[in-house]
Amino acid sequence: MKKRIGVLLSGRGSNFEALADSVAAGRIPDAHIAIVIANREGTQGIERANARGIATKVIPSRGLEREAYDRQIVAVLREQQVDLVCLAGYMRLLSPYFIQCFPQRILNIHPSLLPTFPGLESQRQALEYGVKFAGCTVHFVDENLDAGPIILQAVVPVLDTDTSDTLSEKILREEHRIYSEAVKIILDGRFKIEGRRVIQLANQAAHR
Ligand code: GRF
Repeated sequence: MKKRIGVLLSGRGSNFEALADSVAAGRIPDAHIAIVIANREGTQGIERANARGIATKVIPSRGLEREAYDRQIVAVLREQQVDLVCLAGYMRLLSPYFIQCFPQRILNIHPSLLPTFPGLESQRQALEYGVKFAGCTVHFVDENLDAGPIILQAVVPVLDTDTSDTLSEKILREEHRIYSEAVKIILDGRFKIEGRRVIQLANQAAHR
């Protein structure tokens, strides 16, 4: 049976689109994007999913208490029998309730080499700090911001000529590449977690 992915987003949706491309091209084999959920109205991400004929749902989060909101999301993800939840530009912290419903089954992509520059505008933070290398991170999600065990990272050089926009573009290209790779690793079960270390295993089904 195909593994079912649920994507949560709040905006543009380019990482969602990269995942959808990878599923369609077989780079993430035996998988299906079951549902794309946005916590805001009018997102480009939902337009992109609709254009691809992928099921979507908009559940506005404004003004709702964290767990009360998350219960609505979890209900939809369960109804859709989702195996893996991918946050893709989802601008909300998850409640402990949500995390417990999907243990080691929630991933996030962040545009910095964590643990440096968590939070918002990481590319601008990196540029202003003056680092010579920046990048992106795919990690498991826990209750803290941009903090769970790291699955994959990719590095890009910061050039003297870079602006926040050019650096973001370079990082985004790597985000699109490593998010699909990480999803494949996790869906294959080709990993184990020791402390904070996510260790890739050579053969399949080692995790389950
Ligand atoms: C990406 O930079 C991602 O790393 C961060 O939010 C941005 C979302 O972009 N978490 P998109 O909506 O996937 O285009």
